[in-house]
Amino acid sequence: MLPLPYYNDDPKSFAYPTVHNRWPTIIEGCIEDIKKEIDNNSTLQSSGEKLIDSFKQLLDDFKSDKVVEPFDETSKGTPKEILARYNKSLRRLNEMKKVTWLTGPWLYLECYLYQWIHLQMWSSDESHWHTYDIFERLKTETFRQSSDGVIELCKLYQKLNGEINTGNLDEDAFKLVFKELIDVSLWGNATDLSLLAGNVTADDIKSVQGAEARKKNEKNILVNDFESAWAHLKSSKSQRIDFVLDNSGFELFTDLVLALFALDSGLVQEIDIHCKEIPWFVSDTMPKDFDALVSQLEDPSFFKELHGDEALTKFSSALKKYYKDGKIRVQSHPFWTTDANFWDIVREDDLFAELKKSDLIIFKGDLNYRKLTGDIHWDKTTPFRTAIQDLATSGLPILSLRTCKADVVVGLPQGVDEQLIETYKSMGNEVGEFWSSSGKWAVVSFNK
Ligand code: F6P
Ligand code: MG
Repeated sequence: MLPLPYYNDDPKSFAYPTVHNRWPTIIEGCIEDIKKEIDNNSTLQSSGEKLIDSFKQLLDDFKSDKVVEPFDETSKGTPKEILARYNKSLRRLNEMKKVTWLTGPWLYLECYLYQWIHLQMWSSDESHWHTYDIFERLKTETFRQSSDGVIELCKLYQKLNGEINTGNLDEDAFKLVFKELIDVSLWGNATDLSLLAGNVTADDIKSVQGAEARKKNEKNILVNDFESAWAHLKSSKSQRIDFVLDNSGFELFTDLVLALFALDSGLVQEIDIHCKEIPWFVSDTMPKDFDALVSQLEDPSFFKELHGDEALTKFSSALKKYYKDGKIRVQSHPFWTTDANFWDIVREDDLFAELKKSDLIIFKGDLNYRKLTGDIHWDKTTPFRTAIQDLATSGLPILSLRTCKADVVVGLPQGVDEQLIETYKSMGNEVGEFWSSSGKWAVVSFNK
C-alpha cells in the first residue's frame, strides 16, 4: 500500500501555512488584479464585480472550512473529460473522509483551486474574462525586475556561443558548462511567484538570481544525479530534449539558456517545451507566456536599461531563429492541469507517445516533483525510482530539477532529513520539518 498524501490540517506539513496564508493572499491578489482591470476599462465594471464577489465567497469558504463541491461538468472553458476526472478523484477521496478546504489533501485541492479560478473566469457573461490571465500582470512585472539576472546570463550565453564557434570547448569543458547551465535552470526555479506571493521587491528577486546566489547554494543540492543523466545523454544518439516547464519569466528564461546551448553545441537537434493550457499555480508558463518572453526580450521599452545591449540582442535573435525554424517547439496538453500525478502519463496515450520521442525529459520545479512522486508521505530515503512508480519502467528518461518548496522529498541518504530538521530549527524556525519547503535546498534526480 502507498503512503498517505499530505493533508491541509497537518501543522507539520507546508500544506498548513499554504491553505491558511498563501492561498488567501493569492485570492486577494486576484481581486486586486480584477479591480485594476476594471479601472482600465469601465465597461468591465459589473462583470468584474461579479467575479470579485465569487472570489470573496471563496475566501469565506476557506475560513468556514466548507465542503468542496464537484465541478459542474457542463461548464464552459475546460473539457468535460477533465472536469469528470477531477470529480472522480473527489468521489474517491470523499469515501475516505469528506473533503473540506482546511482538512482535505493538499495537492488535489491546490489543483482544484486553479481549475476553479479558470472556470470562474469562464462563467462570466463578459467574454473579455474568458481567456484573461489573472496572474499575467504579476508575471510581467516580476520579469521586468529581473534585468540583472537576464543580462548576466545573456553575457554568459554570448561567451559560450563564442567558445563553441571557435572550437574551444573540449569534452570535459563542455560537460562542465552543461552542468553549470543545469544549475542555472535549477535555481531559476527559486523565482516562484506563488512563494514570493504579494510583496516582491527587486532585492528579493536579485537575492535568488545570478551566479553569486548559485555558488552559495551549490552545497544545498542534496541529491545530484547529474552524472548519470549526462552519461545517458552521451550514450544515446541524442536528438531531442523536452522540458516540462514550470514558471514563466525568469525561470523560463534560464531554461531557454540551457536549451539554446544544447542546440548551438549540436548536443541535440530539437527542444520541445510543454506548457500549461490555463493560468496555473500563479506563475506557470502558458504558450502565450513563451511568446510574451520572446517579444519582451526585443522590446526596447521592456528592459529599458538593457536596450541595445549586444549580448541581449544575440540571445534574443538566436531564440527567435530556433523558434521560427521549428527547432524549439511549444506544446501544451490538458493533462498537465488535471489533478493526476505523473504515474498516469503511461495511460495518457497521445502524451506518452509524444514524450517517448525524447532523449531526456527535464521536469522543472516543485509542483512537477510533487506530481512525479505523488505528493505522499514517502520516507525521505525512498529511492526516486520507487517514488515515481510506473514511470520508473516506462522507458521515459526523467530528470527532475527541483528546489524544494513542499514536504515530499525522496532519495536522501540516511540521517540527512533529521540533520536538516535540526539545522532549520537552529536557524530560528519553529517547525524544523519546513526545511523542505523553504526553497533553500534542491534535488537533481534522474531515472533512466
Ligand atoms: O503552493 C504550494 C506549491 O505547490 C509549492 O509546492 C510551491 O511552493 C509552489 O506552489 C509551486 O512551485 P513551483 O513553481 O516550483 O512548482
Ligand atoms: Mg510554478
